[in-house]
Amino acid sequence: MQEERITSSQVQSNEDNALDLSLRPKTLSEYIGQNKVKQNLEIFMLAAKKRAEPIEHVLLYGPPGLGKTTLAGVIANEMGVNIRVTSGPAIERAGDLAAILTNLEQGDILFIDEIHRLNKTIEEVLYPAMEDYALDLVVGKGPSARILKLDLPRFTLIGATTRISLLSSPLRDRFGAIYPLNFYEEDEIAKIVNRSASILSVGIDTSANTIIAQRARRTPRVANRLLKRVRDWADVKADGFVSEDVARAALEMLEVDELGLDQTDRKILSFIIEKFNGGPVGLNTLSAATSEEMATIEDIYEPFLMQLGFLERTPRGRCATRRAYEHLSYRHPDPAEGYSVNSNETLYPSTS
Ligand SMILES: Nc1ncnc2c1ncn2[C@@H]1O[C@H](COP(=O)(O)OP(=O)(O)O)[C@@H](O)[C@H]1O
Ligand SMILES: [Mg+2]
Repeated sequence: MQEERITSSQVQSNEDNALDLSLRPKTLSEYIGQNKVKQNLEIFMLAAKKRAEPIEHVLLYGPPGLGKTTLAGVIANEMGVNIRVTSGPAIERAGDLAAILTNLEQGDILFIDEIHRLNKTIEEVLYPAMEDYALDLVVGKGPSARILKLDLPRFTLIGATTRISLLSSPLRDRFGAIYPLNFYEEDEIAKIVNRSASILSVGIDTSANTIIAQRARRTPRVANRLLKRVRDWADVKADGFVSEDVARAALEMLEVDELGLDQTDRKILSFIIEKFNGGPVGLNTLSAATSEEMATIEDIYEPFLMQLGFLERTPRGRCATRRAYEHLSYRHPDPAEGYSVNSNETLYPSTS
């Protein structure tokens, strides 16, 4: 098992669920950032309400921790309907899905997290359910088997995925609205830290708030986690108040640098730089070098490193950019630009 990282955008096993529930926005106005998505959703929901109809099926996609599950809850709350939460890997048999679907009420929302991990045979049961609100169940076996058609209430499916490219196109086509969630702006993350601090009754300086926001990988889940760990530090080492000094010292101890990079991020980049002259490096090689699964590198590390402009995905592999060299204090091989290097040249961290 991998050690759990403070900067991970994924949910962790030791996470305090009750606390996280209290931090979760319940309404669209509490939901900070993602303004384009919110504007679209507002109209989408108002129109459905005006017609007294459930909303069409919605697909939310984007890296972990950006607020997909939260937004599904917000939609249910704003529409005043129940939400039933499950996930792709949790639905093992067609019967599981049938049981969930037949228990829904008119207008209810079914939230399927990690919908790209839905098994293919189950996906096929979902098609008529999404399209015609009908369920085709095969009853019996062999020549006496027959198909039982069941009517379903008009429900709304909200799917969430970190990997939209893995979704089959028939499934994707059945969503009425597809919204991408993007990394947040730093001032939006600062607002989230501020909001969470006030919910948790943490005394915090504006400058400390900014420091936490700068290192939160533009991800609300990471922002909340950093705030909680900094608060622990303040409780133990100081008088509980999060001043600028306290925030800096706590984050230093957690080895989160001023851009939010942790040891694994730095390991990935310095491996590409030191061993491959900046790349390209194949994903499997990176996975072996860092002992991280390929999917973890693709879903968790790379999106943020690309967002920072430190990493590029090319058809031949991953490349570290000039900015990555500079951030990690390596001398870039080419004084002008590009990753092409003179093979005689050795790379070494510059002293500057
Ligand atoms: N827009 C937002 N405003 C405020 N807090 C947010 C927002 N989006 C997410 N969060 C916080 O971040 C945490 C992670 O969000 P979540 O919806 O679980 O992400 P995802 O499902 O995309 O992995 C939530 O517990 C919530 O407190
Ligand atoms: Mg989620």
